[in-house]
Amino acid sequence: MVGHLSGPRIVAGPPGPKVERLLASVGVGPGGYSSPIVDTAQGVYVRDPDGNVFLDLISGRCVVNTGHNHPRVVEAVRGQLGRSIHWQTEQSFSLAERLAEMTGLGPAQVYWSQAGSMANEFAVKAVRRATGRPGVISFMGSYHGSSMGALSLSGYDPSMKRGYGPTLPGVYHMPYASCYRCPLGQEHPGCSLACLEYIEDYAFRSYVPADEVAAIFVEPVQGDAGWHVPPPGWHRGLRELCDRHGILLVADEVQTAFGRTGRWLGMDHWGVQPDVVLLGKAMASGVPLSACVLRRDLLESTDPEPIPIHAQSFSASPLGVAAAHATMDVIRDERLCERSEETGAYIKARLLELMDSHPLIGDVRGLGLLLGVEVVNDRERKTPNPEAATRVCAEAFRRGVFVLSMGSYGGRALRIAPPLIITEEQVDTVIEVLDESLKAVERSQGL
Ligand SMILES: Cc1ncc(COP(=O)(O)O)c(C=O)c1O
Repeated sequence: MVGHLSGPRIVAGPPGPKVERLLASVGVGPGGYSSPIVDTAQGVYVRDPDGNVFLDLISGRCVVNTGHNHPRVVEAVRGQLGRSIHWQTEQSFSLAERLAEMTGLGPAQVYWSQAGSMANEFAVKAVRRATGRPGVISFMGSYHGSSMGALSLSGYDPSMKRGYGPTLPGVYHMPYASCYRCPLGQEHPGCSLACLEYIEDYAFRSYVPADEVAAIFVEPVQGDAGWHVPPPGWHRGLRELCDRHGILLVADEVQTAFGRTGRWLGMDHWGVQPDVVLLGKAMASGVPLSACVLRRDLLESTDPEPIPIHAQSFSASPLGVAAAHATMDVIRDERLCERSEETGAYIKARLLELMDSHPLIGDVRGLGLLLGVEVVNDRERKTPNPEAATRVCAEAFRRGVFVLSMGSYGGRALRIAPPLIITEEQVDTVIEVLDESLKAVERSQGL
């Protein structure tokens, strides 16, 4: 049983002696300690083996929306441990029904895996099979995972792909509506959604045969690219474009679902219904489980006699299924979607206050508790400052707040995505730490 954790509290280092030894055992020096090694975790806090307590501002990479080690999730896993830890359970059927209802895809077919990458991986196979078309569209800046199919879809950073190619053929990357740093160099709203028009007016008329495209894979909010929220009309326009060309719309909700943006699904902000929804990360609060949820008719139409098209040894893992039911109960009972929206608005307002006094901050954007703070060295020209972003994270870590920075097109944004249970008091502590960390880096950069 974990005792009550409070923090942030730095008592040794970081790293302290125990962590320093662990890092040394894998050839990493003390300077390489930037993500807490966990001894125990609870709520928004993680305690490392030396007793340092960090506030986890990224929810273990958007996994623990309900907070680390939520008692109801732990209880559900413990209950399942005594019954069965392997093979499909009755509860997986009711979970499939819940997911079908949540995604609006019922009657749906659910394919289980353990990681978001694998949900994408299967979706590529499924949409090709369902449509008989080989092509797949995704977006510049997107992150869909690290297995070969998911990597092929991703357009996050060349370093992801360097040396691993050739990647999957038939994948085309289009410009996303990342308006802060528009890939087409335009300004919204004057652009009239030029990035959307680009697909039909340029790509489909030059290098992509529209009738050979099976699906468009899209993140509702482009996450690791820097948490870009598309402007009104963009997702709806994408849906209409798909309908015009018989293309399926796949929403990669691996990062955005389960209350993260203030709704059960990111797409709920736009009222757009995809044909396929990909889930993972927060679905089971840390027990590995992911899902590709698709309209049942999609595969039935080509498969009158179902055949094992995506067999895996560990499909609907009972521990993951039990944890997922409990996670969905907690999100519903503790009103975590609403809390995400309310606390998100509070933290966004506080971050915008910081922006007034910190030249390093170029933009604050996002939905609910999925926020990005763009780090620049010239606000007017939005000049990326990845070095400062890394150093702000390091300063915050020294003070007991774990945050990291990510981004595409050379930019870097701080990822502000705490567990949805974070309180305003805890947010105030975070803001103080970020304020000090930004000041320290600004002083050293002469800003
Ligand atoms: C939108 C999106 N899809 C897929 C993935 C891959 O998930 P996993 O790391 O569980 O394979 C991620 C991970 O960050 C993601 O953000």
